[in-house]
Amino acid sequence: MKIIALSGSLRNKSYNTGLIRAAQDLKPENMDIEYFDIKGIPLYDEDIKENGIPEKVIELGEKIRNADGILLAVPEYNYSFTAALKNAIDWISRLPEQPFAGKPLAMMGASPGLFGTVRAQMQLRQPLIFMNAKVMNKPEVYVGGAKDKFNAEGSLTDGKTKEHLSKMLGAFRAFINTEIRT
Ligand SMILES: Cc1cc2nc3c(=O)[nH]c(=O)nc-3n(C[C@H](O)[C@H](O)[C@H](O)COP(=O)(O)O)c2cc1C
Repeated sequence: MKIIALSGSLRNKSYNTGLIRAAQDLKPENMDIEYFDIKGIPLYDEDIKENGIPEKVIELGEKIRNADGILLAVPEYNYSFTAALKNAIDWISRLPEQPFAGKPLAMMGASPGLFGTVRAQMQLRQPLIFMNAKVMNKPEVYVGGAKDKFNAEGSLTDGKTKEHLSKMLGAFRAFINTEIRT
């Protein structure tokens, strides 16, 4: 089972990208999680598109098409998800045979605040409805108080969070299997 993972943060020591690395360590059997770095995707511009969709967007679209599921790590900026993530999603939405359509998707997020990106994740569900991704509703992963749960390199150290993430990945595997069968 192939999963493609995107982080909405561009910074090196990102908690959210750290969650993806943790997921790669904790993944259940038969699941492979590939991280795709969205850094460098230009801001969506119809004129750029008319002159040719950027290589990186085409590459990401292919990877999503070939994946069994998508895992999104969702940072919260000003009570919403980041512009970097929205930008990547907007580009993907303009590819032929829109690759998010019908694709199982799970999300997770971390922030230093109390609510662990709950507002960002709720908002992200809206464009995903339009793109017809098959979003897994539960278990939810909201990692609040991230400063105490990640080390200085942005890697997850908190045992309970690892346990919960592992549970979510197991549920995602089952969700994908159900979606594939139906
Ligand atoms: C412009 C901006 C707005 C932010 N707004 C929020 C917010 O609304 N809620 C929140 O929990 N954290 C907020 N933060 C803090 C981020 O959660 C924090 O920077 C976090 O480390 C970002 O994720 P990352 O570690 O993956 O880069 C904000 C940070 C920035 C730079």
